[in-house]
Amino acid sequence: PADGLAQTPPMGWSSWNKFAEHIDDKTVRAMADSMVSSGLRDAGYVYVNIDDGWQGTRGPDGQIRPNAKFPDMKALADYVHSRGLKLGIYSSPGLRTCAGFEGSYGHVAQDARTFAAWGIDYLKYDLCSGEWFYADKDSVQRTYAEMGAALRATGRPIVYSLCEYGRFDVGSWGRSVGGHLWRTTGDITDQYGDMAKIGFEHNGNPGDAGPGGWNDPDMLEIGNGGMSDDEYRSHMALWAMSAAPLLMGHDLRLTSAGAKALLENRAVIAIDQDAKGVQGVAVRKQGALEIWRKALADGDVAIAIFNRGNAPSSIGLDAQDIGAGNVRSVRDLWTGSVGTSLAHAYAIPAHGVVMLRIATLS
Ligand code: GLA
Repeated sequence: PADGLAQTPPMGWSSWNKFAEHIDDKTVRAMADSMVSSGLRDAGYVYVNIDDGWQGTRGPDGQIRPNAKFPDMKALADYVHSRGLKLGIYSSPGLRTCAGFEGSYGHVAQDARTFAAWGIDYLKYDLCSGEWFYADKDSVQRTYAEMGAALRATGRPIVYSLCEYGRFDVGSWGRSVGGHLWRTTGDITDQYGDMAKIGFEHNGNPGDAGPGGWNDPDMLEIGNGGMSDDEYRSHMALWAMSAAPLLMGHDLRLTSAGAKALLENRAVIAIDQDAKGVQGVAVRKQGALEIWRKALADGDVAIAIFNRGNAPSSIGLDAQDIGAGNVRSVRDLWTGSVGTSLAHAYAIPAHGVVMLRIATLS
């Protein structure tokens, strides 16, 4: 959409991966506070997104009301805004959301107005319940277009996140219904196997991604404890190379030093947020190793060498991998070390990754 939103992939936090429906006003405020005090906000994470579980019932006028855990949504939005952050919320087009809460069915325009009046900045619209009206691509597209138009009609800039699990060829029409990101997959879990399957194989069609509209391989699990440091490093690298939204999914009050180092690595964030908006792709696969490349706005290239195998491995890079003959500088994005030439070979730990930013002479 030509509304100027999401010119780079959205960054922030969402309640679902850690808290599921056990989310309340107090916790959201605590996350906003942590985002500021930890430095994450200043590293670029600005959306604080309430996922499923905030909804109560509708009033006599049909207006959706939050449940008792969210006494005053407008006050919460004001609080989040006062911290220099933005507030996101969640709904579904059906009668019920995925977790069984009140959906927007029959109240689409009214809900959009309510969200705008509260000061909401981001809506995730999740294709749950009401299978009768989205059995096929056209009806799904219509369903998403209806909320997209309703959001636009409010006049408030609201990032619109489509959640349809990568079905219905969404990448080809997500933008046209006003979407700024669209899910490419079912739900992520905090396990390497699931994360890797999504990150390597279900991250959407790279041609669909670019400023204003992004493939969404789901939220981050970094910090939730189910993966090793190397595995979480691969998670962060895959999402950054894919120009994926970076929505943290852990309890920000309990961010370990290891998780913080990954999430706040500005050089890696810069790959994700690069203005050119290119989604990186695998340019060579060799055994368990995958070499990925992403072209950057200043002419540099980002390279990630992933090891999907269970044993350490090593590999060298050639001119074809980096798409250029002559290398001017090579920065290792995890260690920060800078050299003037490629290493003879890069050692990649099991389930790990080496990530480089390479400036070339052209
Ligand atoms: C679906 C979505 C998740 C989350 C839940 C909430 O499963 O894919 O990301 O929003 O619904 O119920």
